[in-house]
Amino acid sequence: MTKDIIVKAVDVTKLFGPFTALDKVNLEIAKGEVCCIIGPSGSGKSTFLRCINQLEKMNSGAIWVNDELVGYRREGNNLYEISDADMARQRRRVGMVFQRFNLFPHMTALENVMEGPVQVLKEPVAEVRKRAEELLARVGLADKIGHYPSQLSGGQQQRVAIARAMCMRPDLILFDEPTSALDPELVSEVLDVMKDLAASGMTMIVVTHELGFARNVANTVAFMEAGKMVEIGPASELLTSPKSPRTAEFIKAVHS
Ligand SMILES: Nc1ncnc2c1ncn2[C@@H]1O[C@H](COP(=O)(O)OP(=O)(O)OP(=O)(O)O)[C@@H](O)[C@H]1O
Ligand SMILES: [Mg+2]
Repeated sequence: MTKDIIVKAVDVTKLFGPFTALDKVNLEIAKGEVCCIIGPSGSGKSTFLRCINQLEKMNSGAIWVNDELVGYRREGNNLYEISDADMARQRRRVGMVFQRFNLFPHMTALENVMEGPVQVLKEPVAEVRKRAEELLARVGLADKIGHYPSQLSGGQQQRVAIARAMCMRPDLILFDEPTSALDPELVSEVLDVMKDLAASGMTMIVVTHELGFARNVANTVAFMEAGKMVEIGPASELLTSPKSPRTAEFIKAVHS
């Protein structure tokens, strides 16, 4: 595998009972790239992200993050599941931002951002605090660090969630519809933070219906339908002249 490929998924298949949620999904993302995944409800977008960070176990196929096989180790021709500790170590390298912020309600914005590095990575508190304050300032919340989630708007909570993911210094961040639970007027403040993050070189996989964001920020766009990766291409090409008629139909439907 070439050095700058940070995520590689090969024939990832996920079944829920008899139902095939992911059907031989392939994707490659280079370091520093932003890939937006689009597609109708139920097409497997969240399931795919959840396989990348091991919230779901795939049935077959393989995913590499940073040249490391996710969830398994290879010995000769055999694959063995890795230990829980190794799985936890791998998962720490992948940040995740959810549709519904998932902040700890009993912790301030600053405490939420500091929690992972202090409790999980066991980093020195003073160092983490400094980094967390800088990150909260970067997402425009310098004056809200002592606020609890209930005292923040949805857009502000999502910006805290992004700062929290960044504070772990992950290799990549997965976003699952990060703006779709927000009031329309709060969407752009979150997209602006994501745009800044992309410009700083963070590798990002973003499931989104915000085609404007995809057009302006993504390097590649992937269209999924019914568990299949229908089409992947440079953002400008896929969004303006998709090869598959299904992609074209979907894009048209989202726009209208
Ligand atoms: N735990 C589960 N058990 C059974 N079926 C599931 C489970 N999780 C997901 N599915 C099914 O797998 C399919 C893909 O779901 P997924 O959540 O990945 O879709 P999605 O593309 O993220 O959709 P949306 O845009 O609505 O978020 C759906 O048909 C869903 O019902
Ligand atoms: Mg989803």
